[in-house]
Amino acid sequence: MKLFDPIEINGMTLKNRIVMPAMHMNFGVTNRRARGYYVERAKGGAGTIIMPALTPDALISDEVWQGRGNVASFLARLQQLAGEVRQYGARIGLQLWMGDMFPAGLWGGYGMGADIITGDRVAPSAAAAKRGLTKMEIETIIENFAVAAVRAREGGLDFVEIHGAHGYLVEQFFSPLFNQRSDEYGGSLKNRMRFGLDCVRRTREMVGRDYPVLFRVGAVEKLAGGVTLADSVEYAVELEKAGVDLIDVSTGDPSPYFSPPEGPEGCFVPWAAAIKARVKVPVMGVGRILTAAAAEECLQKGYLDLVGVGRQLIADAHWAEKIAEGSERDVVSCLYCNSCLDAVMVKHTEASCPVNPDLGQEGS
Ligand SMILES: Cc1cc2nc3c(=O)[nH]c(=O)nc-3n(C[C@H](O)[C@H](O)[C@H](O)COP(=O)(O)O)c2cc1C
Ligand code: SF4
Repeated sequence: MKLFDPIEINGMTLKNRIVMPAMHMNFGVTNRRARGYYVERAKGGAGTIIMPALTPDALISDEVWQGRGNVASFLARLQQLAGEVRQYGARIGLQLWMGDMFPAGLWGGYGMGADIITGDRVAPSAAAAKRGLTKMEIETIIENFAVAAVRAREGGLDFVEIHGAHGYLVEQFFSPLFNQRSDEYGGSLKNRMRFGLDCVRRTREMVGRDYPVLFRVGAVEKLAGGVTLADSVEYAVELEKAGVDLIDVSTGDPSPYFSPPEGPEGCFVPWAAAIKARVKVPVMGVGRILTAAAAEECLQKGYLDLVGVGRQLIADAHWAEKIAEGSERDVVSCLYCNSCLDAVMVKHTEASCPVNPDLGQEGS
């Protein structure tokens, strides 16, 4: 089975093609609960774990920790977590994300010290209650992504992923709907790509050539006039030139559309396949991948190099191991009910799952 073939990403060997994509559970970042959750997925056979969206500020500003630790202690805890995960042969990295708050982009519920930091709400260009970013702020954010990546490396993580999907700030720059700027960051496709590409170029420059940098693309926005697949294919080509080592293809649409409750298995895979046809770097796809057969088909047909298995790995941490051992019938299947997502995104509580009572208790 190709699913269990190793693959190398810029010097990092992944033991198989199974990736747990970034998913916020509101369990905290490096506390015992979060560690138990990640380590269980590593034990369960996932080759790669992407820790969920985290603002660069958490890695570069002591102020964010409001006296409950600091960046240095956070990096030490990341190092411990990465070591625990690697004991099971898995790799772990962090997704760097910027929402719509500046300068500290924290959204409540991380359980990492500073739950809510207030600040101006910002966007590429003024919209509703948000103001447009100044050039200097844009430069600061780009720099912050790069410095945060350097810190993640110091913190012993295997890679970083820049979150350029799901309607958050990086994706908003790419979106013709959300980006109405009239300077070099807005207007033409070339200009709309600039912010994401600058984030990648500066990150690559600072973190060095030999550290894996992944990028999550929001390949399509459903709204009329939004991001098109054709634009995203060009974006992917440029991202590769800018130094990205892997392209993770998701949607441009915000919650809950990025985790569809219904639809075919592998619902976002055709976009990933279109991107894969134009780039040489490995491509990962997601979207309701539930069965080994679907995952394997995506790899065998050359649609994907890596398979992102999200909610199914919440429902059953040992999905990969059960498949490897030929016991797929023992897999506890995800219902795609989105209770987990609702808890995190709507109720701002910890995720729970009707088919997995152990979720969040793994480390106890
Ligand atoms: C509870 C929950 C939290 C999520 N948090 C993030 C996140 O922090 N960053 C991100 O890029 N995607 C996030 N996602 C989207 C997943 O990474 C994934 O792309 C999506 O669920 C589709 O994959 P699936 O059908 O296998 O679940 C989240 C999804 C869920 C269910
Ligand atoms: S069963 Fe529902 S709550 Fe559990 S992982 Fe799947 S979508 Fe989330």
